[in-house]
Amino acid sequence: MKYLGIVLCVAFLAIQAKSAQAVCGYESCHETKANMVNIHLVPHSHDDVGWLKTVDQYFYGHKNNIQHAGVQYIIDTVISELIKNPDRRFIQVETSFFSKWWDEQSETVRAIVKKLVNEGRLQFTNGAWSMNDEAAVNYQSVIDQFTVGLKFLDDTFGVCGRPRVGWQIDPFGHSREQASLYAQMGYDGEFFSRMDHNDKGRRMIDLALEMVWDASESLSDVKLFTGLLYTFYWDTPGFCFDVHCSDDPIIDSDSYDNNVKSRVDDFIAYAAQVAEKFRTNHIMIPMGGDFQYEDAEVNFKNMDKLIKYINERQSSGSQYNIFYSTPACYLNSVHKSVQSYPNKTLDFFPYGSDSNSFWTGYYTSRPTQKRFERDGNHILQVAKQLSAFAKLSSTQQKEDLEYLRHIMGVMQHHDAITGTEKQHVSDDYDRLLYDAIVGGVNTARDALQVLNIVPDGEFESCLQVNISECAYTKDGADNVVVTVYNPLAHTTKQYVRVPVKNENYQVTDDKGRVVASEVVPVPWEVLALEFRNNDTQHELVFKATVDKIANYYIKKVDTKEGTASLKTISQKKTDAGTLDDGETIVQNSLVKLVLDNKTGLLKRVEMNGVSENIDQSYGIYRTYDSGAYVFRQYNQGDFVIQEDGVEFTVYEGALVKEVHQHFNEFISQVIRIYEGRNIVEIEWLVGPIPVEEEFGNEVVITFTSEIASNGVFYTDSNGRELIRREKDKREDFNSELDRQPTAGNYYPITSRIALQDSNKRIAVLNDRAQGGSSMKDGQIELMLHRRLVRDDGYGVDETLNEQKYGQPLIARGKVFLILNAADESTSAEREAEKEFHLPLWKFFSKNSGSSSAVAKSLPSFDDFPQSVHLLTLEPFNDDEVLLRVENFKDHIEGKVVSFNIRPIFDYLNGSEIRETTLDGNLPLSDMKRFKFHAEGSGARGTEPEYYTSAHKPLSTDESQDASEFAVTLYPMQIRTFIIKIK
Ligand SMILES: *[C@@H]1O[C@H](CO)[C@@H](O)[C@H](O)[C@H]1NC(C)=O
Ligand SMILES: *[C@@H]1O[C@H](CO)[C@@H](O)[C@H](O)[C@H]1NC(C)=O
Ligand SMILES: [Zn+2]
Repeated sequence: MKYLGIVLCVAFLAIQAKSAQAVCGYESCHETKANMVNIHLVPHSHDDVGWLKTVDQYFYGHKNNIQHAGVQYIIDTVISELIKNPDRRFIQVETSFFSKWWDEQSETVRAIVKKLVNEGRLQFTNGAWSMNDEAAVNYQSVIDQFTVGLKFLDDTFGVCGRPRVGWQIDPFGHSREQASLYAQMGYDGEFFSRMDHNDKGRRMIDLALEMVWDASESLSDVKLFTGLLYTFYWDTPGFCFDVHCSDDPIIDSDSYDNNVKSRVDDFIAYAAQVAEKFRTNHIMIPMGGDFQYEDAEVNFKNMDKLIKYINERQSSGSQYNIFYSTPACYLNSVHKSVQSYPNKTLDFFPYGSDSNSFWTGYYTSRPTQKRFERDGNHILQVAKQLSAFAKLSSTQQKEDLEYLRHIMGVMQHHDAITGTEKQHVSDDYDRLLYDAIVGGVNTARDALQVLNIVPDGEFESCLQVNISECAYTKDGADNVVVTVYNPLAHTTKQYVRVPVKNENYQVTDDKGRVVASEVVPVPWEVLALEFRNNDTQHELVFKATVDKIANYYIKKVDTKEGTASLKTISQKKTDAGTLDDGETIVQNSLVKLVLDNKTGLLKRVEMNGVSENIDQSYGIYRTYDSGAYVFRQYNQGDFVIQEDGVEFTVYEGALVKEVHQHFNEFISQVIRIYEGRNIVEIEWLVGPIPVEEEFGNEVVITFTSEIASNGVFYTDSNGRELIRREKDKREDFNSELDRQPTAGNYYPITSRIALQDSNKRIAVLNDRAQGGSSMKDGQIELMLHRRLVRDDGYGVDETLNEQKYGQPLIARGKVFLILNAADESTSAEREAEKEFHLPLWKFFSKNSGSSSAVAKSLPSFDDFPQSVHLLTLEPFNDDEVLLRVENFKDHIEGKVVSFNIRPIFDYLNGSEIRETTLDGNLPLSDMKRFKFHAEGSGARGTEPEYYTSAHKPLSTDESQDASEFAVTLYPMQIRTFIIKIK
């Protein structure tokens, strides 16, 4: 209440006093001085959307015994302080917190805040729902969380609310794709503060803390100014005026303690040091830190004085000019200064904060949470598309969808999907995401009912099919309809699995044709899970062919007629009971697997006309002081790959062949090949991982081939372009790898890791983010799960030792292996990747037998070129739908494609269509972003340069010819359209 009182009375005065023409954006930046060092003082607060406390605990200032932090008070006091002095500036970064605060404000306060925004005094920066991680996130979810954050700002403040720069000051490493997305959203640049210590050291010397990031190998205009903060994002050493700090305030009265001279001397000395490392006569000094400004008066009062006394010295010849600023205003000054910057092409992974600390553990930490996040994205895309098709309009439906968007935004936060939060916070994320997913499945169900896909359909979702559990079919699947929804653009053929009892079933399609099916057993290690309801022990498998949606009808039958019978082969033993020396061959028409009977391991794979010896197994890193962030070996010898002792059983059906392998008491897997698919699927089950008192264990899956990869491997950047990695090498510097040779060679694998020689190539795809590497030629490893006994000292102050159902966490997931000739296109990997990211979603209903009402048909996107991905289709505003299409093949795999979107425009009842930047909120024709000159790219101009859209933005309406709706996409290009509907 205290803060609100101040806000109200001061605001009244402020509104009275100033009604001059509002200017926001770069126009509102303070004047700078040409012949001086211009110090841009940037007040900010870094407010984690959950970390040591939950999102709400941080917002409300609850549980201050854990960490003193209350975001609502930060925004309250900052607003009242901004009003007091029009020179003051503040940046607001996390839109999730801001929107929650905004919802609670009166119209009076809102009017004041709007005025501050319109005058550029409060500047939104970054502006996404959260400050997302950059290692474990998929680009689709990053785009979504920017879309929802920027849309809130646009709806609330219009163009003055639009952030101009990225501010990723805390994430633990930086991806090239993030920079690419910023450029595609029209951002002018980005800033961050974590970089490998050797890289930073070198850049300090070379004046290379700022650079031009060439963020795409396929797209040409995707270059982004990228700046590293001089120190960390926390305040200038000695100048933290926050209530959380104890640095000296500025005492300027006639006091014995008057310290103006020494404080100003110290600050100028620091500024001089910073100025030496930058190319223009502008420097940015952030003033803030985690959850600072809770009593903003303390901060601003002292900064006011600092500014006053530093500038006073100009009259006696000082060359330092200091003023309140923002990252955008700093960048604007840098842009106007027209300089050249070094070129950056790869990324900033892995992040090593010292030679013993590579932050590569978090690529894998909390594996089930990382998977759950992908489930959230899956239902979000399904629910969005179906809502748009069914034109859902009830308040509940809109709120449920919006809530899911928001929670997915929260999940992208750099302490959420990373697994670097306290356990109680992780539990809270699970709670939030579960509730949001339930809202999502309800929304999807409502849409299917509106579309009348199955008469009287219930369209239940089964959220536990990962442990082969489904309440809907637990007592039998007789007369059940499975409605499968395909979120992808193109017709897909996928195998559907439904948990069932061991009974005979017949499956028919929409036309009444019998579809081949079979019942396969669930591995006993899954059945043995004590927390699993043990109603069913089998799964019914059939192949679905789906354009957008299809129904499959399951009926119980008496005989085995129509369902294939399964052959079981057990590991061969000699008469003496020992394992024989032979091989077991498991094959279908496209893939052949050879297992070694003695070791029990896979030893050879043949597919796509290539044969390769591939030993597939598991390895264990025994580590001492690894933590949620850092993967840290104690002794390099503490790594063992299991080489034998694996028991296996083979189940051979006509559709699917499975090898169930038992490695030890905490690792088992199923190798699976489906008829007609040239992919080897491996479903792993890991846990409870044993630990010793002093040592944790970190489990990796390994693929050891004879491919002569020569130290080179490829890893994806947030699920999009591949980046070439070379063992022990970095793009711009020498990394010290002697203490942590493995951890320092780990990279984030969000969707794919691959290696090749001149003949053969193997790619391993995954179902959630993981850390991975190639430590030996021909070998790929992915870290699946970690159980640790110590904290790594970066703030969480808990060991990563997840417990669920009264025991150490058990995780289950899938990886996929593709072996191919090296000269073959990697397009097949791309296409598979899309299917694993957005597979069919299954809805269950009773088959009521009625077929009276006719289902509304869904549009087909099948005539889009094969490389076009339906990246987003969602309700945007009440009368608007957002459509985002992507050419998902890169410049090597794909080509320029053209197609027409008039059919989908008509299906949606469109009246007008416009093209926007990637985030959907800025007309593309208005996009004008800073261009900076990269060294070595020809002569530098003398005037500031800009990028505008390289193509003519699409803008048309229903009265125009279909040819106006033609869309061309270059490899990796994404285009975003807003369709206004009637
Ligand atoms: C579930 O049932 C199967 C088959 O009867 C049995 O082998 C397994 O032990 C059961 N699991 C549990 C946890 O009781
Ligand atoms: C940046 O470096 C890459 C790789 O060397 C090169 O392909 C690209 O043309 C360079 N860009 C500029 C602007 O110099
Ligand atoms: Zn943070």
